[in-house]
Amino acid sequence: MTKVLIDCDPGHDDATAILYAARHLELVGISTVYGNQSVDKTTTNALSLSDLLGLDVPVARGCEQPLIRTFRHGGDVHGKTGIDGAELPVPSRQAVDAHAVDFIIEMAGRYRDELVLCPIGPFTNVALALRKEPRLAKWLRGISCMGGTTQIGNTTPVAEFNIWCDPEAADIVFRSGVPMWMVGLNVTRQVGITEDDIARLNAGNAVARTYGGLFTFFRQRLNEIHGLTTASLHDPCALVPFIDPELITYANCPVEVELGDGITRGMTVCDFRNLTSAKLENIRSRSSNNCHVAVGVEARALVDHIMNAILAWPDRSSAKREAATH
Ligand code: RIB
Ligand code: CA
Repeated sequence: MTKVLIDCDPGHDDATAILYAARHLELVGISTVYGNQSVDKTTTNALSLSDLLGLDVPVARGCEQPLIRTFRHGGDVHGKTGIDGAELPVPSRQAVDAHAVDFIIEMAGRYRDELVLCPIGPFTNVALALRKEPRLAKWLRGISCMGGTTQIGNTTPVAEFNIWCDPEAADIVFRSGVPMWMVGLNVTRQVGITEDDIARLNAGNAVARTYGGLFTFFRQRLNEIHGLTTASLHDPCALVPFIDPELITYANCPVEVELGDGITRGMTVCDFRNLTSAKLENIRSRSSNNCHVAVGVEARALVDHIMNAILAWPDRSSAKREAATH
């Protein structure tokens, strides 16, 4: 079973990625980063979700700010807690002592050639880990991220939030040479939880109802801001190549990140040109940092697969209550 470490900013869709990974992969660790809310809140949310799901997975707290820029946290999309819409358990444990950057390096060294690192928030922790331990790029089996887009953005007309928050970090990661999968908004916006899906969750056990509450809030915010009618499951898409690769189609191409401060800041420029001639005067040649870029998805099949994982997740609290009464 594929070993994954999720670097995240829970986050409604991050919460779904954690469950989906724990159901189908070997989730060996969770690291947290600022993004959907402050890193204090995203760390609390990761610990609360681990309790809700009964996961005994180490959680490491990460960076509070991007490498260079200053990030102002806002609850635009995910609310004041970063995961509004449901009551989550107060965490029963703390994050590990190690900083997320050191935790990522340690786990990659422990699971050399096996570990897939899944950044689904800003890439700041991952970029610092690659800089602090140059061998990391060789130790990792791959990096599969939710980030960027081949079409329109969300934070700006052309940039997706995770990349826009820290373009310099994303640039370091895309240029690292690690085998890379990128699923962007062009695909993830198609993967949405509908009102009917929410009704099915609300008829389920306590875990399913919790996700039903989370998606109700998330779907409403996405509708108010972007006019969307479903709750986009951005982050779980990053896990698909290692769970069911038939569900998402990838094309291989170089990806470069716009580092300027203008309107295109954080744009992921995917070069799909099929240039054949090497000797060119004016035409810019392709960069060498190839990446598997998601270009198509069996959206409803993927939503159903994720829904099945949520609906089948046992309600540990009732299991604990049953155990206590016997
Ligand atoms: O743009 C979508 C991404 O930004 C997702 O990872 C979501 O959780 C937010 O972090
Ligand atoms: Ca996220």
